[in-house]
Amino acid sequence: MSDELDLPSLVDAGARTLGFDDDTDLEVGPLAFGCWRFVGSDVARGRELIETALELDMNLIDTADIYGRGHGGRGFGEAEELLGKVLAEAPELRDQMVLATKGGIREGVPYDSSPDHLTQACDDSLRRLGVDVIDLYQVHRPDLLAHPLDVAETLDALVDSGKVRAVGVSNHTPAQVRALAEYLEVPLVSTQPEYSAAHLDHLRDGVLDQAMELGLAVLAWSPLGGGRLATGEGVRPELIAVLDELAGREGVDRATIATAFVLSHPSSPVAILGTQTPDRLREATKALDVHLDRRDAYRIIEAAEGVPHP
Ligand SMILES: NC(=O)c1ccc[n+]([C@@H]2O[C@H](COP(=O)([O-])OP(=O)(O)OC[C@H]3O[C@@H](n4cnc5c(N)ncnc54)[C@H](OP(=O)(O)O)[C@@H]3O)[C@@H](O)[C@H]2O)c1
Repeated sequence: MSDELDLPSLVDAGARTLGFDDDTDLEVGPLAFGCWRFVGSDVARGRELIETALELDMNLIDTADIYGRGHGGRGFGEAEELLGKVLAEAPELRDQMVLATKGGIREGVPYDSSPDHLTQACDDSLRRLGVDVIDLYQVHRPDLLAHPLDVAETLDALVDSGKVRAVGVSNHTPAQVRALAEYLEVPLVSTQPEYSAAHLDHLRDGVLDQAMELGLAVLAWSPLGGGRLATGEGVRPELIAVLDELAGREGVDRATIATAFVLSHPSSPVAILGTQTPDRLREATKALDVHLDRRDAYRIIEAAEGVPHP
């Protein structure tokens, strides 16, 4: 291959709309702050993280009712409670964010998108967060035992009641999305799949293609593979070598290249960052200025999969 190639960067550093332009007026930055690991009772630290994220244009704040279980948390609801305490202390932050949460995982069940449960889960999230309205309410995982008509009617009712501005899904297959969208009165505006150089399934299973077809914002979870792409743990050495080479060329760290890779898919994913370190949030913004072209992205895919492209 020639080194003379002069290819444009694929990294999309622009704002994203949730849904098609006329579906919502919710606009978010290309990087978001995730609250899976946002646990504990240190409100000052929580506030510092949220304020740092918002200052860096990471205005989508993504949480879930279940967050708080694991990662040192004491249990269900803790991450929403901590965010609620931050918002109680600094209410001016509420309007600066697009507040996203999720329901539908139920301890001991494990999934419940029945009308009673989702409605109650949303009320409980509103109470823990201390807000009147959730901007984006997402079904966290598909409930295989719920009819999409029932889920759709429940989500429509949440929007009608004014408790929720828009609705989305997470970890849904294209068929599950289509079935739900078919019955919904309101537009489905987002999908939240795992997507990173460490998890490329959705490149070819229709999840990202469908998002582009239906105008769903792609909210990519674990853009660093939960940290593995930064540490190298459990990742193919060939992938680490390519990421390191590109990092050296661009003058950034490996995690930044991995984040830029997520932003370079044509569905313009939002990378939901999981770090709980303000300096790493700042570092991540360098991904927006990285030059990652088609050849670079194909090299990452090939190294990640260990299979040469035909
Ligand atoms: N919908 C779903 O089912 C689902 C599932 C999982 C996650 N999510 C969403 O996605 C968000 C992000 O997920 P994630 O936390 O797995 O994201 P991630 O960004 O892939 O991983 C974050 C982890 O990587 C570590 N890390 C970051 N930069 C590093 C570096 N340079 N060197 C070493 N370690 C580094 C962080 O540690 P430090 O904090 O120490 O920096 C943190 O433990 C969650 O908060 C949640 O909002 C959704």
